[in-house]
Amino acid sequence: MEDLVIGVLGGGQLGRMLVEAASRLNIQVAVLDAEGAPAKQINLVASDKHITGSFAKAADVEALAANSDVLTYEIEHVDTEILEKLSAQQQYVKGTKWNRIQPSWQTVRTIQDKFTQKQHLARFSIATARSIAVDASRGAEAVKEIAEQLHYPLMLKSRTQAYDGRGNFPIKSAGDIEAGIEALAGRPLYAEQWANFTIELAVMVIKTAQEAAKPDGADDEWWKSSTLAYPAVETVHEDSICKLVYAPARQVPRAKREEAQDLARRAVATFAGTGVFGVEMFLLADGTLVVNEIAPRPHNSGHYTIEACQMSQYEAQVRVVRPDLASTIVNGSTEMVVPAALMLNILGGAQADSHLLVVKAALSVPGAKVHLYGKGPGRPGRKMGHITIVGSSMSEVERKMHPLIQLVDAVRAERSKPTATAETTLAAAAALQLKNPTPPPAPVVAVVMGSDTDLATLKPGLQFLEEMEIPFLVTITSAHRTPQLMLDFGKAAAGRGIKAIIAAAGGAAHLPGMMAAVTSVPVIGCPVKASSLDGLDSLLSIVQMPRGIPVATVSIGNSTNAALLAARIVGTSEARVQAWVERHLQRMAEENLAKAARLEAGGWRDYQRVESWNK
Ligand SMILES: Nc1ncnc2c1ncn2[C@@H]1O[C@H](COP(=O)(O)OP(=O)(O)O)[C@@H](O)[C@H]1O
Ligand SMILES: [Mg+2]
Repeated sequence: MEDLVIGVLGGGQLGRMLVEAASRLNIQVAVLDAEGAPAKQINLVASDKHITGSFAKAADVEALAANSDVLTYEIEHVDTEILEKLSAQQQYVKGTKWNRIQPSWQTVRTIQDKFTQKQHLARFSIATARSIAVDASRGAEAVKEIAEQLHYPLMLKSRTQAYDGRGNFPIKSAGDIEAGIEALAGRPLYAEQWANFTIELAVMVIKTAQEAAKPDGADDEWWKSSTLAYPAVETVHEDSICKLVYAPARQVPRAKREEAQDLARRAVATFAGTGVFGVEMFLLADGTLVVNEIAPRPHNSGHYTIEACQMSQYEAQVRVVRPDLASTIVNGSTEMVVPAALMLNILGGAQADSHLLVVKAALSVPGAKVHLYGKGPGRPGRKMGHITIVGSSMSEVERKMHPLIQLVDAVRAERSKPTATAETTLAAAAALQLKNPTPPPAPVVAVVMGSDTDLATLKPGLQFLEEMEIPFLVTITSAHRTPQLMLDFGKAAAGRGIKAIIAAAGGAAHLPGMMAAVTSVPVIGCPVKASSLDGLDSLLSIVQMPRGIPVATVSIGNSTNAALLAARIVGTSEARVQAWVERHLQRMAEENLAKAARLEAGGWRDYQRVESWNK
């Protein structure tokens, strides 16, 4: 593995995490950036190959190329003129037909001008927010004319050198135009239609083929064979900087998440070269997805892959740019190994070490993985590190992260106060936590009944769920009186993290079966003994389900077993609950053994006498 050296243009936090991944494979990574850059600090093995300088300077890029076999990027604001020249001098990695610059310099040239990037995507019918270039010589007049077409509000954006919102200026009305032009002075601009998104999504894509799709390409399936997608995640931005990443995206149906993955793959397939790409998207109120922007490198929205996926985005980058390793990336590598992950960015605050308050608090949260980037003293708003928490449900990771988010919010609120200290920040965080307490765990079991008269039957089961400390919800959804409500409830169950549904009904007991018809969550039917037929009607209505729609049915009125069966289902993914079930079995066995011992020792007459006293 150690023979081919990867040269990386840029050595910030993305480069640092790339080096971490490479070091496990004993792959050398030569870094071009300033002395002591984050990626260099942890990379002694290639120290004789690093270049001190700038990825935007031709001579420095040339020097890095001389020390490396393959070149790749951790930032897109690089000098592509020199990359073009280098590629003309030596196109391939020695002894191969593999381009030595991955992804291609043409890809980076297209992407680094965001307006050109959008025009490129339009040629491939990839939807983006409508945008129009601003004629710099006509300034405000030009923006006014564009506004007639795009309407207010719109986003004035810098075409180049834009990141973390430092290139965006919202224009709410004509009155904002002058300020926008001034704020983005000297930069090539374009104006973009305001995207009324409900949430922002992002998908990391690995492109494994060197070629790019052609605009008139007949092969519509090509993107499938040339790309792999990580899950669709939800990104939350604050001040136009990524704050939180929820993986997978919350409350977005699986079909929509898959649509986002496919859109991202189609978009990435249009770019030449192999690599890892971050695709940012808007999910609009009408359910449409549009691409916001694409990064030709690992991305903040993919940090979570380090802890949460089979292979991290950084390992993917290291492997996919190499001729000998690209083909080792196979389907399945991008999947999550846990049900849920949440990433929180740590930004600099008022003081050089304000961000460390968050880090220290995170160290006491079991499972919180802290990544510090080694950027030296913090500056307000600068990305200093991040925290990832993975777990068995989104509710679990959200609850663990909650106090840390309050602390991050406090650091931000104190950021511009010259009087801020560690004490005032911690006090502000405590006040925020008091105002927004950590939410209770989301229910994992739903208990539904056709009528409130079923509640008496359900009581022992509900008590058991409480005793087991399994978060549950209980409600009435009648198959006959509120059929639509019942169906909506069933359809939403999986998405909200419900792992088992207990459905109790009596008489013509249609509730469990109808619920099972619209959900993938296991349904446990509990027959309730109604006014006639001793509950046999309920039992048969529930147990006699047609092939294809299973309902697990417990005996008549036995909500205890319904609760214990739900616990067994939950226990397959939650060790604590499984341990409870095992202890419960053990307890029952011990009770029985004790009884048998007493019976054997004292004889049956004695035993019966004692038992009847006890009654
Ligand atoms: N057209 C738009 N409409 C509404 N919000 C936008 C629009 N473009 C960008 N934003 C917001 O600003 C954030 C940053 O913008 P983006 O274009 O991704 O630039 P960068 O991430 O390079 O700073 C986005 O994630 C989104 O929250
Ligand atoms: Mg962005």
